[in-house]
Parts: sequence; C-alpha cells; structure tokens
Amino acid sequence: MKLIAPAKINLYLEIIGNRPDGYHELVMILQSIDLADEIELHSISDETIRVHCSHPQVPTDKSNLIYRAAELMATKFPQALAKHGGVEITLNKHIPVAAGLAGGSTNAAAVLVGIDLLWNLGLTQTELEDLGAILGSDVPFCVAGGTVIATGRGEQLSPLPSLDHIYIVLGKYRSLEVSTAWAYTTYRQEFGSTYLQDTNDLAARAAAVHSGPIVKAILEKDAVAIAQKLHNDLEKVVLPSYPQVLQLRELFASQPGVIGTMMSGSGPSVFALCETQQQAEQIQQQVRQIIPDEDLELFVTRTIAHGVKVDS
Ligand code: C5P
Repeated sequence: MKLIAPAKINLYLEIIGNRPDGYHELVMILQSIDLADEIELHSISDETIRVHCSHPQVPTDKSNLIYRAAELMATKFPQALAKHGGVEITLNKHIPVAAGLAGGSTNAAAVLVGIDLLWNLGLTQTELEDLGAILGSDVPFCVAGGTVIATGRGEQLSPLPSLDHIYIVLGKYRSLEVSTAWAYTTYRQEFGSTYLQDTNDLAARAAAVHSGPIVKAILEKDAVAIAQKLHNDLEKVVLPSYPQVLQLRELFASQPGVIGTMMSGSGPSVFALCETQQQAEQIQQQVRQIIPDEDLELFVTRTIAHGVKVDS
C-alpha cells in the first residue's frame, strides 16, 4: 500500500496563552500543500515494526514519529497485530525536515491511516485524529488536511472551505533547523507576560483571538485579502535569531507578483503566495539568481484540499 502524505503551511498562528500542561493555547489556520512524502506499508510475518528511509536526516529508530505511530497502533490493536503480523514502512522523503511544514506529523498520520486500512480496522476520521493527538499537536490535522482552524494545542479542528490553487513559492535552507520546543519556550520567556495566563477564562480567550479578518477572507475565497492577513507570532523569536530566514522573507516580499509572505510554523521555511503558477515559477527563478546558494531549497507548490491519501 502506498500513501501520499502532504505538508502544511500556517496561514495564521497566534499564541493566546499558556496552558497548565506546558503547551500553548493556539489559534492556527493550517493549509495543506501539494509538496508531499510517499509512504509504503507492507505486512510482515513477525510482529515487529521496521522503518526504512534513505534521507540522512531521518532516523529510523523509535525517535521517528513513523515508528511511534506504528507502535501506537500495535499497542491499541494487539489482536489485529497478531492476525496480520507486523509492518515494514518505507519513507520516500520530499518535505524538508524540521522546517515548520509538519513533515514528521504527516508521515505519522499516513501510518495511522495506512495501518487502519491494512488491518481492516474501520476507524473513523475522528478516531484517527484522536490517535494522532497522542503523537503530536499537528498530527490530527494531517489526517484529513485541507483548510482548517486549529485551536487548543492545535488538535481541535474546525474545517473551513477549501482554498484550491493559490500558488506558493517555498524556501528552506537545508542546513537550518529550528526546534519547535525552543521557539515556543523562547516566545514564552520573551512575551509570556503579554498574553493570557488563565486559558480557562472563556470570555478572555475569545477577546484574545484576532483571526476574524483572515477567516472572513477565506470564507470569501479572496486570495489577496488572505495574503494581507497572514500572521505568525513565532516570527518574533525565530526571525531575529535566523538572519538568513529574515533576508529570504524580505526578498520574497519585494518580488512583483507576491501577494503575501510569512514563515510557516516554527520555521525556518518561509513562503510567498502568488495568484498564478507562472508568477510563482518566475519568482522562484528570480530568487535563485539572487541567492545561488545550493543550501537554499526552493519549491513551487500550491494549496490543496486534502490530507493523507491512498495513492491509486
Ligand atoms: O505536539 P508536538 O510534540 O508536535 O510539539 C512540539 C513542541 O512544541 C512541544 O514539546 C512544545 O514545546 C511546543 N508546543 C507548544 N504548544 C503547542 C504545540 C507545541 O508549546 N500548542
């Protein structure tokens, strides 16, 4: 069985408070893009999990979210494991690693979806998302993907109308990796006193949220208005520490045809939104000429309306 596991970008990321569990209360708008990994799953006779990936930055041991997703399914459904045997998983990596694009999370979501099918478990989307939340905050979104408002830790999902065919130029320096935990911890140290300490206060929580204008723009499918309302609180800590990322973001913003630019998640990838594929390709070429550094990966991609899919 072969699955497609798409990446995501954050059109919006607002940190509205500290949570008692150490995480942060968020309002995010997550968007699937057609930059994707491929994952193959095969049943094997012994009741073990084997992970293969040729990418040098991807571990294949228990630290890999793919391994942990398969292990979670084996623990939750021991009878299915005994009946069908273990799984061998091969990952073909295209999504940049540690980039703020949910690469690891979408791989984990694909393993949940794939094993559900391989073992004929018949889990619902909600059941798969609940399992995903055990593995990481972005995993539930990656199951069905599309355009979604994510609240809580990022695991509470409300779908928005899908945004097809907004074109994107995405840039990531191969040698730069940002730890998500570092980005949130630093944000809390620097800005923690400016946002909610009691996230159980519903009225205060509602007043703290500023996502209304971008949600309105998404409902109206107005790409230019969406691009003008992009927001990511984590830029405040990541951009000052990573001057190359700031420089790339400024370069994107200065290109004719770019309607908006932002860092995705905890970075360091940055993206530029464009109205046509041709404009996106021209911007990619232009940026490549200005920054010929091989370390910079540039992709032209687009918004899509789905998450994990079986490759037929
Ligand atoms: O949930 P996940 O393991 O993907 O999160 C990675 C790290 O990001 C967490 O360990 C935490 O430091 C931070 N995080 C957070 N608040 C969230 C989501 C993630 O502080 N809502």
